[in-house]
Amino acid sequence: MFKSVVIFIGPPGVGKGTQASLLADAFSIPKFATGDLLREALKNNTPLGIEAKTYMDSGKLVPDQLVLDLIKGKIAKIPNGIGFILDGFPRTLHQAEGLDVILSSLCHNVGLAIEFSMDEEERIVRLTGRRLCPNCQRTYHILFAPPKKDSLCDYCSVELVQRADDNEDVIRKRSVIYWETTKPLLEYYRQKNILMKVDASSSIENVFSRIKQIFSELN
Ligand code: AP5
Repeated sequence: MFKSVVIFIGPPGVGKGTQASLLADAFSIPKFATGDLLREALKNNTPLGIEAKTYMDSGKLVPDQLVLDLIKGKIAKIPNGIGFILDGFPRTLHQAEGLDVILSSLCHNVGLAIEFSMDEEERIVRLTGRRLCPNCQRTYHILFAPPKKDSLCDYCSVELVQRADDNEDVIRKRSVIYWETTKPLLEYYRQKNILMKVDASSSIENVFSRIKQIFSELN
């Protein structure tokens, strides 16, 4: 059984969400993506979603405490001894330290942090071509991962949409925030000796093979 907590870290558009979904399906493990959880809160018009919207639309990070409370609520429901994937969380040192406190109170710990890396211009092509199912949150790409029929979700048959923050200006702002605020996290996990780097510029299948290989060595 998969027992570790695994963290996916990387700049916008590098493919974290795509790989987290593939891995969660392949190993039947839970995954939590703070971006998805925040968008769901927004869709449901909750106070959290309404507060998060201004930050998200402009490419800024949502305040640490809001995100920590959100993720704590999710993690607390996972039975002891079951691992899970965190996609896009933590994103600041404060979030990483807060996560360690939450996990130790639940007898868990982070076993692996994967850094996804690739060139910025390629990431922009990925993000400007990304489409999202507003119902199930599955992602597609108009060139690299198109839906089977027109612009409809393969699973829900709902019209795909473009994320409000997937325009070039906001993507570049999100990237700057990544380099300034999230990248220092890599050193945090490097010092714990649990950081692995993955070249994310290859095809979805190749990146997935590499991650599965890392996972098989972990368990
Ligand atoms: P979030 O939703 O987490 O966005 P992000 O980190 O910017 O990452 P993305 O979802 O844009 O990219 P991804 O790496 O998952 O790429 P994907 O797999 O979709 O966060 C959004 C906002 O929420 C933040 O800006 C912030 O405001 C807030 N937020 C979230 N978490 C927070 C936190 N912890 N603290 C504070 N605020 C937080 O792939 C992209 C596209 O490329 C897709 O179309 C896909 O089909 C395609 N693709 C993927 N892999 C490949 C490949 N190998 N080859 C070709 N195409 C590919």
